[in-house]
Amino acid sequence: MAPKVLVVDDDVELGALISVQLRHRGFEVATVTGADAALARLTRELPDVLVTDLQLIGGPNGIELCRQVAERYPELPIVLITAHGSIELAVAAIRAGAYDFITKPLDFAALALTLERAVQLRALREEVSRLRRTVDQTRRFEDLLGTSAAMREVYGLLDRVATADISVLITGESGTGKELVARALHQRSRRKDGPLVAINCSALPEALLESELFGHVKGAFTDARSDKPGLFVQAHGGTLFLDEVGELPLGLQPKLLRALQERKVRPVGATAEQAIDVRVVSATNVDLEEAVQQKRFRQDLFFRLNVVHVPLPPLRDRGGDVLLLAQRFLEQAAALADKKVAGLSDEAAERLLAYSWPGNVRELQNCIERAVALTASESIAVRDLPEKVRQYRGVPPSLGAEGGSFLPLHEVERRHILSVLEALGGNKSSAATVLGVDRRTLYRKLAEYRALSSEDAADPDAPAPPRSR
Ligand SMILES: Nc1ncnc2c1ncn2[C@@H]1O[C@H](COP(=O)(O)OP(=O)(O)OP(=O)(O)O)[C@@H](O)[C@H]1O
Ligand SMILES: [Mg+2]
Repeated sequence: MAPKVLVVDDDVELGALISVQLRHRGFEVATVTGADAALARLTRELPDVLVTDLQLIGGPNGIELCRQVAERYPELPIVLITAHGSIELAVAAIRAGAYDFITKPLDFAALALTLERAVQLRALREEVSRLRRTVDQTRRFEDLLGTSAAMREVYGLLDRVATADISVLITGESGTGKELVARALHQRSRRKDGPLVAINCSALPEALLESELFGHVKGAFTDARSDKPGLFVQAHGGTLFLDEVGELPLGLQPKLLRALQERKVRPVGATAEQAIDVRVVSATNVDLEEAVQQKRFRQDLFFRLNVVHVPLPPLRDRGGDVLLLAQRFLEQAAALADKKVAGLSDEAAERLLAYSWPGNVRELQNCIERAVALTASESIAVRDLPEKVRQYRGVPPSLGAEGGSFLPLHEVERRHILSVLEALGGNKSSAATVLGVDRRTLYRKLAEYRALSSEDAADPDAPAPPRSR
């Protein structure tokens, strides 16, 4: 595809000449006169490179145009044409964000070469920013750690909804990181410089919660000695995090609904309403849909809060994230206690992977902090782990929580092998060691489960592919 160039020049004849010369050299060229026309055109279509004359008359001059373009379209390279060629101008232009400059009279071959390099630079810049986004997104999201498929899916969802000003409902078992997600959403939103105000809806009786959320005026009740703005007002321009929203008393639910719909609150005892500008993120570990069925939660409010639903997977479904998180908590705890503890023994790691973590990340964190405090060696051993974690032997993580689901033995084996393999990042030698089987046996099992990739065919231990399907 021909690279697209936008040429900005007030000299119509020169513009036309540049256009002819560049087309001749394989570029697709559009010309405009004046900086304003250029900026207007950029909003409709982005070229691969912009060429502008430094002596633009009327509107912002070339350097000013450079500055604006660099700010709005950081990936678009700019090449300047100048009659002076003085070093000061060149420096000013580069400072303003230009890629390069060339002097009149124009050598079109040199111009074309510069443009080609600029186009390559643009492709490179885009690739870098794409890679940076994916790397960030696959490994972590703000303070959320984890590389499992389940967590990457969460990051993708958070990335899509963070900047939109819509209500988000976070659900997940206790300790899965709901509060951390709420903070991450705020941090990634356009409101990040505004306040993040959190309230636990289960912690206060109804009347107090009402005055906390919506505020009160002096004299509204016995203890109301002065006006007090509510959290909705305190969170102005930011995010209000309603934790344990499933516990919100029924009597307050219509008031919250009104605040969300009308974007106004009325403090307790007040006659006038106040406008609010907040984004509401809420979290719960109860099944809100069931609560709606049982008439403990209003359906209309549920819809308002649940515009986007972010379900957090339990830790036992996050494979090797357990070890990643354990290592992080271990380093933090060791630094805090000023102890030299570097890692986990293989056997301890195995137990952590096998355990079902009903208390999720918080339980893991407590477990590791305790182990770091207890251990006398440089790596955490099985004996440093709590009794219940120690006793977990080889029960597949996905089964533990279901407590008593009856699966055939071969299915238990299949799930266990696959989860160990995932936890070890697909490393078959390590998985075989952890499972206590030789590599050939592991390969045979994986072939049975059709869990071998085409690369595996090159491995001497891999069984011959089945002849028919
Ligand atoms: N993905 C993660 N990466 C790093 N730390 C995490 C992650 N998820 C949770 N944590 C940590 O685990 C602890 C529990 O997280 P958090 O308080 O957000 O859970 P929660 O879902 O709100 O729990 P609860 O339902 O009990 O309120 C916190 O210390 C948090 O920092
Ligand atoms: Mg919480």
